[in-house]
Amino acid sequence: MTTDVRVVCFGIIGCGLMGREFASAVGRWMHLLDLPFRPEIVAVCDANISATDWFTRNLPTVTQATANYRDLLANPDVEAVYCAVPHNLHAQLYVDIIAAGKHLLGEKPFGIDQAANATILGAIVDHRDVLVRCSSEFPFYPGAYRLAQWVREGRFGKIIDVEAGFWHSSDLDPNKPINWKRRVATNGEYGCMGDLGMHVAHLPLRFGWQPANVRALLSKIITERPDGKGGTAPCETWDNAILACEVATADQLFPMILSTKRIAPGHANTWFLRINGTALSAEYSTKNPKQLAWLPYSSGGEQAWHLMDVPYQSAYPTITGGIFEFGFSDSILQMWAAFCDELVNGDQIGQPLYCATPAEASATHTLFTAAIQSQRTGQTVVFDEVAA
Ligand SMILES: NC(=O)c1ccc[n+]([C@@H]2O[C@H](COP(=O)([O-])OP(=O)(O)OC[C@H]3O[C@@H](n4cnc5c(N)ncnc54)[C@H](O)[C@@H]3O)[C@@H](O)[C@H]2O)c1
Repeated sequence: MTTDVRVVCFGIIGCGLMGREFASAVGRWMHLLDLPFRPEIVAVCDANISATDWFTRNLPTVTQATANYRDLLANPDVEAVYCAVPHNLHAQLYVDIIAAGKHLLGEKPFGIDQAANATILGAIVDHRDVLVRCSSEFPFYPGAYRLAQWVREGRFGKIIDVEAGFWHSSDLDPNKPINWKRRVATNGEYGCMGDLGMHVAHLPLRFGWQPANVRALLSKIITERPDGKGGTAPCETWDNAILACEVATADQLFPMILSTKRIAPGHANTWFLRINGTALSAEYSTKNPKQLAWLPYSSGGEQAWHLMDVPYQSAYPTITGGIFEFGFSDSILQMWAAFCDELVNGDQIGQPLYCATPAEASATHTLFTAAIQSQRTGQTVVFDEVAA
C-alpha cells in the first residue's frame, strides 16, 4: 500500500468531446492499483465558458474556470495541462503552455501543418525542463500492448509487411452537419490524416519503422454537407487516405500500408495493426477488442492461426478482473498514468510504453505533408529521413 502519493495538478484547455473524456478518467483513478502519483484537475478553460459547467459540477477540485487560457497558464497551482482544441489553435496554445513552464499532454496532430508543428518543436527546444507528449491511446489496449512487447522481443523474424489503420464511418451519412473537423481552416489540409493519423503511426514509429517513401491515395467522397443553418457548406477535407510506404531499417526493407478513413462503412473507431513476419504473424483490432490473433512459424511447421481473448493486463495494473473487457476510457486512464509516471519519474518510468513524443508527432507531419505532395503529383515521394 502506497502512503506517499505525489499529486500532479492539471488544467484542461478545451472542454469539448475530448476534454470531458479525459476529465472523467480522474474519477476512475482508483482503478489503478496503488500508484505513487495521481492527477487532480484544478482549472478548466474553454472559449465557450458554458462548456466548463459540466466540469465545475462534477469535479469539486476545480477552483478556476475561465474563457481565457492565459488566466489558466498564470495559475501557479497548475503544473500540467491537457489541451484539446481545434488544430488551427495548437501552435499558439501549445507554445504558450510550454513557455509558461507547464508540462503538456497535447492532442494530435500537434499543429495544423508542418510549419505549425515546427513552431511547437522550437518552443520545446527552448524549454527542455517541460515534459511534452502527444495523446495516443490505442497502444495501451492490452492486445496492442502485447504486440508491442513481441516487437521489442524481436519475435517476428524478418518483417514481411505491416498494415495499420484507424477507421470511422459516421461521415457516410451525407446529412451529418459540417463541423470544424471537415474544414481546412480548422482541421488542416491533411484532413483525415491529421485527424486520425497519429493513432495509426504511433506504434510503427515507436518500433523504428519510419517510412522511407510514400505513395498516397487520398479521396474526397462527400463534397458538401448541411451547414446547420438550413443551407449546405463545402466539405473540404480528405475523407480517406491510403498511404503505401516502404520502411527501410538497418537490415531490411518492407512494405507498410497506413490508412485513415472517415468513411469506412460499418466501422466506429476501429484501430488495427497487422504485422506479418517470417517467424511470427499477429494482428489486433479494436473491432474485436478482446481478441488477439497470431501465427508462429518455423520451417516445415504448420501455419495455424491462434486466437485468444486477451486478459485485462494493462500497462499499469488495475483492480479490474482479468476476464473483463478493456475499452477506450480505460486506454485514456492508462495513457494518463504513463504521462504522470514520466512526469514524476523521468526515464525511470515504471513500464516500457511512454506516451507519443513530439519527435513522433513531427514524423507524422513529414509523412502527411509528403502524402499531400504524392496525391498532387501522382508520384511516390521519397524522403531521406523522417525527422527523428
Ligand atoms: N485522442 C483521441 O482519440 C481524439 C478524439 C477526438 C479528438 N481528438 C483531438 O482533440 C482535439 C479536440 O477535439 P474535440 O473532438 O475534443 O473537439 P471539440 O470541438 O469537441 O472541443 C474543442 C473545444 O475547444 C474549445 N475551444 C476553441 N477555441 C478555444 C480557445 N481559444 N481556448 C479554449 N478553448 C477553446 C471549443 O469551444 C470546444 O469546446 C483535437 O486536436 C482533436 O484532433 C482526439
